[in-house]
Amino acid sequence: MKIEFVKADRAKPASTGAVAVLVLEGGQLTLAAQDVDKLIGGALSRAVGAGRFTGAKGQSLELIAPAGMEAARITVIGAGSAPEFSGDIAESFGAAAFAAVKTSGADTLTVLLPGAKPEEAARAAFGARLASYRFDKYRTTEKPEKKPSVKTVRIACDAPSAAQTAYGPLDAVADGVFFTRDLVSEPANVLYPEEFARRVKALETLGLEVEILGEKDMAKLGMGSLLGVGQGSVRESQLAVIQWKGAADPKAQPIAFVGKGVCFDSGGISIKGADGMEDMKWDMGGAGAVAGLMCALAGRKAKANVVGILGLVENMPDGAAQRPGDVVKSMNGKTIEVINTDAEGRLVLADALHYCNDRFKPKFMVDLATLTGAIIISLGHDFGGLFSNNDELSGNLLAAGLGEGEALWRMPLPAAYEKQIESAIADLKNTGGRPGGSITAALFLQHFVGETPWAHLDIASTAWRKPSTNATVPDGASGYGVRLLNRLVADCYEG
Ligand code: BES
Ligand code: MN
Ligand code: ZN
Repeated sequence: MKIEFVKADRAKPASTGAVAVLVLEGGQLTLAAQDVDKLIGGALSRAVGAGRFTGAKGQSLELIAPAGMEAARITVIGAGSAPEFSGDIAESFGAAAFAAVKTSGADTLTVLLPGAKPEEAARAAFGARLASYRFDKYRTTEKPEKKPSVKTVRIACDAPSAAQTAYGPLDAVADGVFFTRDLVSEPANVLYPEEFARRVKALETLGLEVEILGEKDMAKLGMGSLLGVGQGSVRESQLAVIQWKGAADPKAQPIAFVGKGVCFDSGGISIKGADGMEDMKWDMGGAGAVAGLMCALAGRKAKANVVGILGLVENMPDGAAQRPGDVVKSMNGKTIEVINTDAEGRLVLADALHYCNDRFKPKFMVDLATLTGAIIISLGHDFGGLFSNNDELSGNLLAAGLGEGEALWRMPLPAAYEKQIESAIADLKNTGGRPGGSITAALFLQHFVGETPWAHLDIASTAWRKPSTNATVPDGASGYGVRLLNRLVADCYEG
């Protein structure tokens, strides 16, 4: 899909395809809606008054082949109630307009935004692009009428070249979100640890430095905790180390993001039930988000030094697989009794977090992981769980999440629950029972971060959205985390 910014012509809004206008809550027409209404002899205001369309968020209305305009259809989108027009409203407008007309047969969508600021016009383009995501590489027989028809989105605004400039970094962020969505959508027979690593290595063309460690390298480093998880799989485990050196001093202390990359989680010997097991192809959503973030930061040339570490494994049950009751030793020297081989994400992150801290001594570490089913029970799908040993980092993450529509909710890390993960024969055990399952998982991770400011985002609740509740996030892989962390870097760590 192509995105263009053009000068809004209020006398002749568009000559072809579909045209989108915004109407405010209460049925009040925006500037563009008034222009169109005039051209078509008041049919737009009559249509708005004729039914239940009130301008509420999520509402839309279609006028087909209106007399007085060359465009084939007009899509009226409800803005919802807000004190004033904003980038957020523009983004939702672009996304909702695209979703409403994508399979209509129109090949061009013109989003009318006369009077909007360049940043707002750019956000409308960003919304449309995010809404256009599809994972259709494996479909060979889709009916033509189900295929998207829109090839070009044209944003009509007052200062198109300023809007185009403002859109540049947003386009890089959308590239990152799409990179994540592609990784998360891929089936596990295609995307196994080495293939994931290859795709990340290919990001070097963006100026990222990528190192890939294999099982021998990790064994030398003493990563018994991570390696135990992958030992029942025919696929080799990998650790990807990605660096972006965008700060004025490339040696300045970096910030770091660490992702759980379980390319398939069968549960291992503590095998999962068949129902829904196919979802466990997206158990690499944390690593996927970190990879997409690094892609976004490089794409927009962020002025910060950032490290991304991905722990890539497949959790399978074969004759070599780890058994419940096994004791493994992590790189930081702590021993772990593996009570349940399905609590594997924390075992992967234990070594990845320690390695990150030990090698890079970052200002802070944030890990992302589809870690526990319990976080879905706690929060539903509209929030990721935030666990942290640092209030400032937590505050920054909560604010970034709100700003990008990727909300987090802070959860506690009570020392009293540590006894749930005490082992009779080792330093720790890898499960803490059902009570507070997401909390004991986070407490486990905390044993591997030393004194470094750290936050853990449990994104099992948000990495996959079905049904979609927001046009910028179509059904399936959400790419949750890329926007949030990009915003954290932009607002807090770039000069
Ligand atoms: N990958 C799962 C968590 C998960 C569940 C992610 C549902 C997305 C959707 C994780 O590895 C897991 O199996 N966790 C167990 C932990 C338990 C064995 C302590 C869980 O949540 O049941
Ligand atoms: Mn598991
Ligand atoms: Zn898992």
